[in-house]
Amino acid sequence: MPKSSDNTSNTPTATSDFLVRHATLRQLQVFEVIFRLGSFTRAAEELFLTQPTVSMQIKKLSDAIGLPLFEHVGRRIEPTEAGIELYDACRRMFESLSNFEMKVADMKGLKRGRLRLAVITTAKYMAPEMLGDFSKLYSGIELALKVTNRDSIIERMHNNVDDLYIMGQVPEGELDVQSYAFAPNPLVVLAPRDHPMVSKKNIRLEEIAEEPFIVREPGSGMRDATFRAFDAKGLRPKVRMELGSNEAIKHAIVGDLGLSVMSLHTILLEGIDGPVAVLDVKGFPIMRNWYMVYPKGKELSLIARTFLDFAIEYESIICERMESLLPGSKEAYMESKERGSKKSKKA
Ligand code: PGA
Repeated sequence: MPKSSDNTSNTPTATSDFLVRHATLRQLQVFEVIFRLGSFTRAAEELFLTQPTVSMQIKKLSDAIGLPLFEHVGRRIEPTEAGIELYDACRRMFESLSNFEMKVADMKGLKRGRLRLAVITTAKYMAPEMLGDFSKLYSGIELALKVTNRDSIIERMHNNVDDLYIMGQVPEGELDVQSYAFAPNPLVVLAPRDHPMVSKKNIRLEEIAEEPFIVREPGSGMRDATFRAFDAKGLRPKVRMELGSNEAIKHAIVGDLGLSVMSLHTILLEGIDGPVAVLDVKGFPIMRNWYMVYPKGKELSLIARTFLDFAIEYESIICERMESLLPGSKEAYMESKERGSKKSKKA
């Protein structure tokens, strides 16, 4: 190893030596997640730890550093100045470690390693099956799947938390990304099976706007798409209830609490003859797509690149599924994909 002329530059400082002995990578990881999510409870959930364990890890880390890392401001926690500095150091350290891990995984080929996938909630009806089929081919790969809404996917992408993302709409101003359309995600109006509109044809959106309506929580892509569809006709749905889960909305529909616009994927298991019915509304289905997305410039691991190709090849399987629920959806998807690629060529 070449010797440095400056004999201090290769020697760890007293502080880093002290931290290397007294702090652990796990504590730094816990700290990073709390800082990012602004909450001990949410950090405990993300890390699958109990809240007392999270608090204990942070206490040990603060003791090692000799300064508090967070302070309570009312019911919120705020990082202290030391916390802000430590976060900066953690981000750089974890990025280097993750690049190192990626290189090692590439050296080992596809036998070992990890794939972290984060998906919007409508993709949870398909992503686990895709991962299942992928792991049949590459059984040594550890898989992590996070299901959350659009806003939180964008936040995770900003913080470079996962390898790849599935989204229903490609971020535009928010982030510069690379995206690949790989599956149809048709939006339909759902109602309880015994609703009087179930047997009607060509229902006008004006009639739907008169019915009690259920929407997803703010931050949801499905919520935005729903309001956009009504806005386009100068209408506003009569929102009776807001729910943070597609499954809860399905149950609320069955419980007669209202109608909702949802992805056709949400009724994949029970099919179109189940307790939730698809209404024949003019202008629906709205043909949206799912996209595999990652931040531009992000270096994908061999595993992530392989999964991306695998997902793109899954297109035909998902198209056939949608076609069996909604004849014509395959053709509509292909056309919308074609339009999308023409638009991106022009841009
Ligand atoms: P959401 O997105 O989970 O944020 O509602 C769903 C979608 O865009 O299909």
